[in-house]
Amino acid sequence: MMIVLLDAERWEEHASAIMAIEAESYEPGRRDSFTFLDRVVQMPRNASLLAIVDRSIAGFCFGGPLEEFAETGGVRSDPHWGRNDALYAADLTVAAPYRGQGVAQALKRAQIERTVALGFRVYAGRNRVGLADAMWHINRAAGAREVQRITDAYSDDLGPRSAIYYHIDLADRQLPSPQ
Ligand SMILES: CC(C)(COP(=O)(O)OP(=O)(O)OC[C@H]1O[C@@H](n2cnc3c(N)ncnc32)[C@H](O)[C@@H]1OP(=O)(O)O)[C@@H](O)C(=O)NCCC(=O)NCCS
Repeated sequence: MMIVLLDAERWEEHASAIMAIEAESYEPGRRDSFTFLDRVVQMPRNASLLAIVDRSIAGFCFGGPLEEFAETGGVRSDPHWGRNDALYAADLTVAAPYRGQGVAQALKRAQIERTVALGFRVYAGRNRVGLADAMWHINRAAGAREVQRITDAYSDDLGPRSAIYYHIDLADRQLPSPQ
């Protein structure tokens, strides 16, 4: 498995494969649009990555500065809102044939490393209760703690409608300053 940056060029090349995985992986309430993901990839301090296995897209993740996600429930009440020191992890998805092999954990590790390298002190995100239990398990193993619970985060009846809003504190993972 290879994890590479999802830069503008790779996004242009792989956007249709990524959007197909997005569509088959999420119920409409959690599905991100092309326009939304395209905006994330253009953000100057984004942490978007691709996992490649045997030359195929096995998974991906997107993230960018918290202040860019004002419309996402919970973001404006994040204690780090407006401080420009937090990254919001917007989407992490693994294609069905590649699940259960550690791809999500590898993407999560790499995204956290990139977040530290970009100089952020907090990694924030949210997980739908029930439907995203596997992701919450992965986030907790990476050091996540719940900072708020968002009730009615989703408007469908496909499971609990609430989301856990979490932080992973990166303050003690900062890279040493160059001498
Ligand atoms: C969730 C998802 C990203 C996981 O990807 P993956 O590559 O299969 O995950 P990994 O193999 O790296 O790790 C899965 C971990 O979750 C655990 N897990 C799986 N199902 C679980 C569940 N229902 N509850 C708790 N933990 C669960 C596994 O045991 C494993 O942890 P372990 O290694 O400590 O045993 C993938 O299934 C997916 O894309 N699902 C659809 C979209 C989605 O819900 N994304 C997350 C929302 S943000």
